[in-house]
Amino acid sequence: MKSVKDSLLLRSSCRRYEREAVTPEQLQFIYDAIRNTPTSYNGQQFTVVDVNDQPTKERLEALIGQKQIKTCSHFMVFCMDYHKIMAGAKAKGVDMPPFYDTVDGVTVGMVDASLAMMSAVVAVEALGLGCCPIGYARTKDPQAIAEILHLPSHVMVICGLAIGVPREHNDLKPKQPASLMIHHNEYRQDDLTADMLAYDAEVQHYNKTRAGSQTDNDWVSHIVDYYRAAMDYEMLQALRDRGFDCKK
Ligand SMILES: Cc1cc2nc3c(=O)[nH]c(=O)nc-3n(C[C@H](O)[C@H](O)[C@H](O)COP(=O)(O)O)c2cc1C
Repeated sequence: MKSVKDSLLLRSSCRRYEREAVTPEQLQFIYDAIRNTPTSYNGQQFTVVDVNDQPTKERLEALIGQKQIKTCSHFMVFCMDYHKIMAGAKAKGVDMPPFYDTVDGVTVGMVDASLAMMSAVVAVEALGLGCCPIGYARTKDPQAIAEILHLPSHVMVICGLAIGVPREHNDLKPKQPASLMIHHNEYRQDDLTADMLAYDAEVQHYNKTRAGSQTDNDWVSHIVDYYRAAMDYEMLQALRDRGFDCKK
């Protein structure tokens, strides 16, 4: 097992996998890590659908469009989930308010599912396996994914995670310096633009010189381009389709 330090500081996303399967022991450790995730109220407002059936992975890949879904050993779909507590409340005759119809309720589910995915990421890294989150699992067509996975109402995919035996080890991507990411006692009060531009230049240099495919991308324009594309996602409707009708 890798050290915590190496698992966290040497991690990079892996998108190419060997044909080898993740072993049952490795999988058990990933499941245990997921299950011990801290959650809001200890309500555990998430569920993971672990897909290792090849035809199902291929259907998901055809829909979502990321090759690693097909080639990974396991594609785990992290969902926010109010279905389980609703079933428990109904069985016990407990009147349940429509918390899932509030922005905070949705936020709670998204945070819980995201933290669960991060538990899995750290476990995967510690095991020497590789993984890559797949956000397009949420944005491409959440209703179609719900149909493939037979998700009940009040369950919605938040993110996918492809997991497998790594066939590549990507260079670590430069991240924002601590001066931008970690502020002390209050949000930093000076002008942060110079630090941002220095970081932007560092990423541009990395993109030009990294192993594998090189690009001329800077950081700011590249990220803003993603936001521009994301403006087309109809996530409010997707939430409503899944039973989350945000009122407040
Ligand atoms: C929520 C989330 C969604 C992501 N979605 C995708 C995706 O759909 N496809 C992909 O190739 N990488 C995806 N990634 C991986 C990011 O591109 C990657 O984490 C980022 O470029 C930083 O690189 P690193 O993970 O190697 O440090 C996603 C990461 C996160 C956290």
